[in-house]
Order: sequence, then C-alpha cells, then structure tokens
Amino acid sequence: MKENLEVIKAQAISAIETAADEKEIEELRVKYLGKKGELTAILKQMGSLDPAERPIMGQLVNEAKQSLEELIGKKKSELLAKATELKLKAETIDITMPAKTSKPGKLHPLNSVLDDMIDIFQSMGFDVVDGPEVETDYYNFECLNVPADHPARDMQDTFYLGENLLLRTQTSAAQIRTMETRKPPIRVICPGRVYRADEVDATHSPVFHQIEGLVVDKGITMCDLKGVLEQFAHEIYGKDTKVKFRPSFFPFTEPSVEVDVSCSECGGKGCRVCKGSGWIEILGAGMVHPRVLESCGIDPEEYSGFAFGIGLDRLTTTRYKISDIRLLFENDKRFLEQF
Ligand code: PHE
Repeated sequence: MKENLEVIKAQAISAIETAADEKEIEELRVKYLGKKGELTAILKQMGSLDPAERPIMGQLVNEAKQSLEELIGKKKSELLAKATELKLKAETIDITMPAKTSKPGKLHPLNSVLDDMIDIFQSMGFDVVDGPEVETDYYNFECLNVPADHPARDMQDTFYLGENLLLRTQTSAAQIRTMETRKPPIRVICPGRVYRADEVDATHSPVFHQIEGLVVDKGITMCDLKGVLEQFAHEIYGKDTKVKFRPSFFPFTEPSVEVDVSCSECGGKGCRVCKGSGWIEILGAGMVHPRVLESCGIDPEEYSGFAFGIGLDRLTTTRYKISDIRLLFENDKRFLEQF
C-alpha cells in the first residue's frame, strides 16, 4: 500500500507540473483528491491494515494529500498569473497610434472676413440688419433717387424678374427698408448678396457681396463718415494704412465719394495687386441725399446721415491674395481647405 501511495504521488506530481491550464488542474484535483479520487481510495483501504500500521499509513496519506494540495494551489496561481499576463498583452492599447480624426467644418473665406467686419462695426455701435435679395424696383432704385428714366440706371446692369421685381443690385435697398421701420438715431450695417448682369471674369461675377452701412442722426457730418471709415480701414488692414477719399457720384448720396486704401501688398509703392497705382478701391459712400431721407419720412432739416457700401469680395481676395474671384463661388474643396 505504501508503494502504491508513492507511485500515485509521483504520477500526480508530474501530471500537475505539466498541466497546461486551470481546467486540467481541476481535473487532476478531482482525479487524485476528490471523493472518488485515488488517494481517497487508499484511505478507504485502511480498514484492511494491521491496527498498528494504520496511524503510520494514515499520516503518510495525509502528508501526500497536503503536499498535492499545496502543489495544486501553487500551480493554479502560476497559471492564473500567466493567463492574466497574456490577456493584458493582447489588450494593450498603442497610445502612439494616430487617432481617427473627424474634420471640423471651416468658415468660407468670405464668411471669416464678414465676421471680422461685423465685429468691427458692432464695436462701433452698429446693428446688423437683413434685407430681401428679390427686391422691388421701388426699394432698389426709385426710392434711392433713381427714377425709371434716370441715366444712373445704366450704372448697374440689372436682372429683372418681372415688371417691378428684380434681383437687388446693391444692398442700398436695405437703407430704405431700415429708415421706413426705425426712427433715428439709426446705425446699421446690412451684409448680403447682390446681383448684376456682368460678364464673368477674374474680377467680375454676376453675384457678389456688399455690406451697406447707414447712420442717421442729428448733426451727422462728412467728418463722422471719414472717422468711421478710417477706423474700419485701420482695423481691417492695419494702423499704417492710408485712406483716400475721391469725389464720386451716386444718385442717393450728396456729396459722394469713393474710398481707396493704400495697397496692403506693396504698402503703396505700386504692384500687381494694385495695378501699379499703390491704391485699392474698397467702397462707395456719401451723405444720404435729402430727397432719400424725405421719401422715408425723415425730415432732412432735422436729421442728416451717411451711407457706405463695401465690396466684401474685393476685401477677401486682397486679404488672402486670391487671384480670381470665381474661386470664391466654385466651392472647390481643394481651394476651400486652404483657409
Ligand atoms: N450702392 C453703391 C454701389 O453699389 C455703393 C454705395 C452705397 C454708395 C452707399 C454710397 C452709399 O455701387
């Protein structure tokens, strides 16, 4: 019986040591130490032994049992540690891998320039107002002191949609709508799309953008106009920018001016951008014609005002050195991604 025990123990030890996983270990535990296990079977045979040998044999079996239990415990925790290590290795995250990026949308260059302009004028106390793109002849021309037979109509080739309807040729139409609905003091800008039947080329597009400005109050003079526009030019182009006012003509302003800024590309020396002149024309402006104030129910004896219309597209192409205005409207991703 003693020899038998030794054999069983030796077999058990070698089987436990070579076990590959926890399941196998558990099977071995049942095989040797379980209720119907081989060591238990030996204990059951003890009855047939000599009474004097029983305690000795009992002790041997118990020792064998204990050492197998210890070995099983040790092997189990070894296997567990190994399994954990393997699992961790398999689940390792490589934090140096580049992440999946989702591209955030970007502002169109026209919109980022527009946002800057709105910031500048809002900081000077202007409100932003909106006007319809499909206008009536009355708001786009008639009320702006351009009657039907007036030669000034030729200044703007118009898309007519019907007898009295047209695509607005200038945001100036919004001046009238504002003066009809607000009482002075008025200080608004109206940005938006305008349309003219121009041939398309690198500097002309049948649709482009203007920002109309209008100020009406008591005692407004040409000095206020100059101050506001100079401030605007300095904020957009930098403090050293020179501003030049040239006499001009618009039917709805008197006197009228066109405003040039010193070329931001060459600083005024003359280059390709300013076509050698050193200046870039950016807007038209003037003191609101008394007749326009009158037709909107504002007494020109009591109030005066100025208006200006800025070309947003020209401002954008010069700021970003864009050589062809058509790029602004084609929505080519390769172009837009650069901003
Ligand atoms: N509406 C004019 C244009 O489109 C610009 C302008 C606006 C001039 C306001 C004077 C005052 O040419």
